Amino acid sequence: MAEIRTIGICTGGGDCPGLNAVIRAAVKTAILKYRYEVIGIRDGFDGLIWPEKSRPLLLNDVSGILPRGGTILGTTNRGNPFSYCITNDGKESVRDFSDEVIKNAKALGLDALIVIGGDGTQKIALDLAAKGLPVVGVPKTIDNDLSATDVTFGFDSAIHVATDAIDRIHTTAESHHRVMIVEVMGRDAGWIALHAGLAGGAHIILIPEISFNVDSVCSYIGQRHIFGKKYTIISMAEGVQVPEQIRQDCIQHYGSIPKGISVGNLIGEAIATGSKKEVRVTVLGHTQRGGSPSPYDRILSTRFGVAAVDLVAQRGFLKMVALRGGKIEFVDIAEAIGKMKSVDPHGELVNTARSVGIRFGDE
Ligand code: F6P
Repeated sequence: MAEIRTIGICTGGGDCPGLNAVIRAAVKTAILKYRYEVIGIRDGFDGLIWPEKSRPLLLNDVSGILPRGGTILGTTNRGNPFSYCITNDGKESVRDFSDEVIKNAKALGLDALIVIGGDGTQKIALDLAAKGLPVVGVPKTIDNDLSATDVTFGFDSAIHVATDAIDRIHTTAESHHRVMIVEVMGRDAGWIALHAGLAGGAHIILIPEISFNVDSVCSYIGQRHIFGKKYTIISMAEGVQVPEQIRQDCIQHYGSIPKGISVGNLIGEAIATGSKKEVRVTVLGHTQRGGSPSPYDRILSTRFGVAAVDLVAQRGFLKMVALRGGKIEFVDIAEAIGKMKSVDPHGELVNTARSVGIRFGDE
């Protein structure tokens, strides 16, 4: 078996707090523990299509990046080398660069590639592995929706941001007697909305896993008013199912659902009409992906980065690091991707929320 001398490391998909902490841990482990050389691959897999973008990563390069958000390597969620969009003279076309990637990985001397990314990025990694590039994966997403791991790094930082926002929104909600909607990220999963809603003391949590109706939400806002609580805070996931009536009203009004309109604003308008209250919507967007990772995420990222290099050393290719029952484990990338983890509508966390009076709009 050929000796491992050089490894590559890349970050793909959306950025996420903790990426730099993974890079730092992997580089330190590779150099200090295994004496490997490390090449930083720029902008997802782009640095393997255009290898002149990539460069060695030394200990000095990762010094001071533990608390830094984003990724020093750059990233993209539009860089699938198997179907890469290129624009020439204003004309768009799609090209397969995968052969170039394999050739360039060899030219860079890569014996393995650590791929830090979500399910889309890991799928590309597997396709490259099928063409001969040995890969190991590190799962990443603020959405926490990968079933292979108990938790992904970035999630804890995101719920800190969302909880802090809900805390701040409380004062305006209370002072102005308003209904305040805080729309959070999470794609098709409600983890961020549920956790931040619980931690921030939201009165209503709306998530994709529980379909809600506006009448139920408005009736609860009315009940709160009768009991002297003239304000209501709603933690809403961006992926909530838009009730059919709102969809129909929108189509009637605009001809279709307008592009770019946030789900929070769409549903907020219906709640304003139904509850006859003043409603304001705050869309947190990418603030949840930015800034310094929380201490929990820094530690998890460090554990993942170290474990990924250990995995390379054991030649555990096609595997991904994961956290299960508090321990680091290695799982097959193929099995890990594509299996989404959703909030269990009858699970302990939802039941806990219901026990303290939080509504989900399905009552
Ligand atoms: O998957 C992470 C995530 O931040 C989702 O929560 C969100 O829906 C999406 O990415 C946003 O992607 P983009 O940065 O491309 O707008």
